[in-house]
Formats: sequence, structure tokens, C-alpha cells
Amino acid sequence: MIGFDSKLAGGVTLEAFRKFLYSADLDSSSVRIARYGKGLDVEEYCVPRRLTDDTDMAVDSELAWSFFERGYSIVMGQAHERWMAVSKLCDELQLDRRQLGRVGVYVSPAGTPGWLTHYDSEDFLAIQTDGTKKWDLYTWPTDVPQRSLPKFYTLAEDQQEKARNTVRKSATVSLTSGHHLYLPAGTVHGVCTVDQPSVHVTFRFRIPKNNPRNGE
Ligand SMILES: [Fe+2]
Repeated sequence: MIGFDSKLAGGVTLEAFRKFLYSADLDSSSVRIARYGKGLDVEEYCVPRRLTDDTDMAVDSELAWSFFERGYSIVMGQAHERWMAVSKLCDELQLDRRQLGRVGVYVSPAGTPGWLTHYDSEDFLAIQTDGTKKWDLYTWPTDVPQRSLPKFYTLAEDQQEKARNTVRKSATVSLTSGHHLYLPAGTVHGVCTVDQPSVHVTFRFRIPKNNPRNGE
């Protein structure tokens, strides 16, 4: 973990996100809202743009924010293409956009995690841009190939619990605004905001097709 000039992350704050949410016209696929790993249906925070077409839905900012105030996390995908503050952060970090996969802004209330412990199948860089988040990192107890391990969220609920019980906590890291953390694919992690709401951005990276890690 290496700190960087926190001025870089200055634009991606909770208050800036709230203003952005209220001013942007976001389609229903751009935002997910969840608490303890359970995502809301888009109908719960989106409304049709036209009375005659209920397939074209837009995020209702007031509804979305009211869920945040009730302890739900909001994540906005492809954030560097939707929000100038994240696009600027991307440029200032000199990230090569051709190698970027998904880019997400995670806006989290205090005390309740949006997602439960899991791992991702891509490397990612997390940049804390407002407040503090606690990251618990885990290791698998046996040296088994990552590809044979269950992806927690693809399992039935009781099996997810079983899978989570097989991992052992190896470290806890608190990231405050201006810190970053790079996690290789397959690193099991659980993330929670402790005292105050917080915001972080994740930049995922494509693994080149000829990289051995892509081998099946
Ligand atoms: Fe994750």
C-alpha cells in the first residue's frame, strides 16, 4: 500500500457524489444498491423515463439516496465514463484506459457492508477518496488452484456461508482518503466503513489474452 497526493482524490467525495447523483441522468444499469450482499431490484430505485415505456428506466436520485440514508451502499459502474471527477482521477493516476476493465465508485454508509466477503476474478486497484474503510483480507487454508475454488456469490446461500468459513483472516487494513490498495485476482476480502460514510473507487484491469493467468 502506498499513499499518494490526496489532492488527486479530492473531487470524489460523498458530497460531490450526492450532487452528481441529483444532477445526472443515470440509466438503471449504471447503479446498484445493496446491503449485506443483497441487491435491490432496479424497480425499487428507478422510474420509467416515459409513461408509455417501462423498459427505459432512470435512477430516481431521491429514492436512491434515501436507501443510502437507510444503510445501503451505492455503486456506480463505468464511473470514469459517467462522472468527470472519476475521469480526472483516472487521468491523474495516468492509468491506461485501454487496459482498464470495470471502474466503480463505492459510496458506503457507516456500519453496514454493501457486500459480504468474496473475491473477484480480476486484479483491481482501490483508491480511497473520502472517509475511511476497513479491508479484511483472507487466505485459503490449503494450496488449491484458484480456479477450482467457489465464487461465493454464485453459490446457494448456505454454501456461501460454508465457503466463507473455510478462509482465514490474514490482515486488516484501514484505508483513509489518499491511500490505495492493489489486490490480485482471487484475494478474498470483506470491506466495511466504520464510523463515517466513505467513498472509494476501484479500477479493474484486463488480463491480456496471452497471459498464462488466462489459461483454462
Ligand atoms: Fe470485491
